Amino acid sequence: MIKTICCIGAGYVGGPTMAVIAQKCPHIKVTVVDLNEKRIAAWNEANTDNIPVYEPGLSAIVAEARGRNLFFSTEVDKAIEEADMIFISVNTPTKTYGVGKGMAADLKHIELCARQIARVAKTDKIVVEKSTLPVRTASAIKDILDHTGNGVQFQILSNPEFLAEGTAVADLLAPDRVLIGGDTTPEGQKAIQSLVDIYANWVPQERILTTNVWSSELSKLTANAFLAQRVSSINAMSELCERTGADVNEVARAIGMDSRIGSKFLKSSVGFGGSCFQKDILNLVYIAKTYGLNEVADYWEQVIIMNDHQKRRFAKNIISTLYNTVSGKKIAFLGWAFKKDTNDTRESAAIYVADDLLSEQAHISVFDPKVKEDQILSDLNYLETRTDTENKKGIVADENPYSACKDAHAIAILTEWDEFRDYNWQQIYDGMLKPAFVFDGRNLLDKTELEKIGFVYQSIGS
Ligand code: NAD
Ligand code: UDX
Repeated sequence: MIKTICCIGAGYVGGPTMAVIAQKCPHIKVTVVDLNEKRIAAWNEANTDNIPVYEPGLSAIVAEARGRNLFFSTEVDKAIEEADMIFISVNTPTKTYGVGKGMAADLKHIELCARQIARVAKTDKIVVEKSTLPVRTASAIKDILDHTGNGVQFQILSNPEFLAEGTAVADLLAPDRVLIGGDTTPEGQKAIQSLVDIYANWVPQERILTTNVWSSELSKLTANAFLAQRVSSINAMSELCERTGADVNEVARAIGMDSRIGSKFLKSSVGFGGSCFQKDILNLVYIAKTYGLNEVADYWEQVIIMNDHQKRRFAKNIISTLYNTVSGKKIAFLGWAFKKDTNDTRESAAIYVADDLLSEQAHISVFDPKVKEDQILSDLNYLETRTDTENKKGIVADENPYSACKDAHAIAILTEWDEFRDYNWQQIYDGMLKPAFVFDGRNLLDKTELEKIGFVYQSIGS
């Protein structure tokens, strides 16, 4: 039976996942380690409201388990040595250099973890891939671990994480399924069972699915590709709706009632963001290409092409509606995070819309309930479209939504935070230049109510 777990990587996945395992398995000691000292210090903050990942319900779970059987530390070697089971939950971003640049997953952090485990481990370990990885990565990890020469036995499992940010705790507490892939050998099956036993502390057995390693690795990329594909599909229809008088919300409702299609993930938007969808589809496209499957690659690449188009056309529409120039005009952004209820901004559509508007010399003021100015600037600087000083001149964050919108020519809604609905829209209107435009990239606000106040209101897909 597993008594000690180590998780390498204290990010958006490692932190919440391990917090829930620790809460549900008080008999297991869980240590989450990371090289990033600031991040670990934040996980150890006395006030759990200041932990580095904002997720509804997470701070209470950390408060309950931390110091009891949940620990956050920078002592990676020590935690590896002590553990019976090691989760690898490090980042696997798109490569920014060399072969596969801009497409393949960068596995350097994964390999470093494998080498560190190989170097440090003195007793048998089960190594669990929690990060999202290209299919067949387990064989590379195995290669590294099997060459230690010190007789330590390793089993490698794939246990991809399906949580979505903003609902991570709810997803972890009641997952649709837990997927565990492992070797078909008796030792592999034993390793699988030990991980099944951990989840079985709170997940019904019928929701714990076991497969071979490759199916598990590939299922994660497939799930994200299918989900993103639905968003791009409805977004493609949104443009057609705008030209034809159809309403994308009505179309989504109509098709979603077909039980074969289902109603979820059909919300048209300014485009999907987040650290996963784009990265994982690009990775899938790259894998298909390496096997010479060009039609498969092209098929999935179209999901990204459509998403880029959706972000770009949102910005273009703002410019053309504002009489073909936004130069010197104040545009207020409500929302910067890639979706509501998270402080994560990775690949947020807001970044790309802002970038396009800044290139047209707009002045942007941003209000997001959970995102601060330094993050916004760092997101824009990462694109390298212009210098830090130029970005600072073009964009500011405001701590207050009303002053963010004051004297603005237009408001763009980039994230669907619930609180935006409840603002005093009359007060916002009164403070704006006229005509006062709202570009609702999330179809969040009530068109009739806004038009009654006097706004010129445009949403996606109608
Ligand atoms: P993240 O960037 O938030 O966290 C990764 C952490 O790993 C960082 O804090 C980094 O410092 C640490 N790290 C990197 N190399 C290390 C090393 N050698 N030793 C110790 N620490 C190291 O990333 P994330 O969002 O948690 O994603 C992690 C993985 O989970 C990725 O593969 C991602 O695709 C996958 N995933 C993410 C989500 C999500 O919603 N974010 C959901 C499912 C799966
Ligand atoms: C996704 C997967 O859902 C999750 O299973 C996986 O583990 C990680 O990647 P995440 O990126 O956190 O999760 O959030 P998700 O809810 O999937 O949203 C991704 C993006 O798509 C967001 O920008 C969201 O606003 C957008 N989206 C989602 C839409 O535009 N319309 C929809 O109908 C659904």
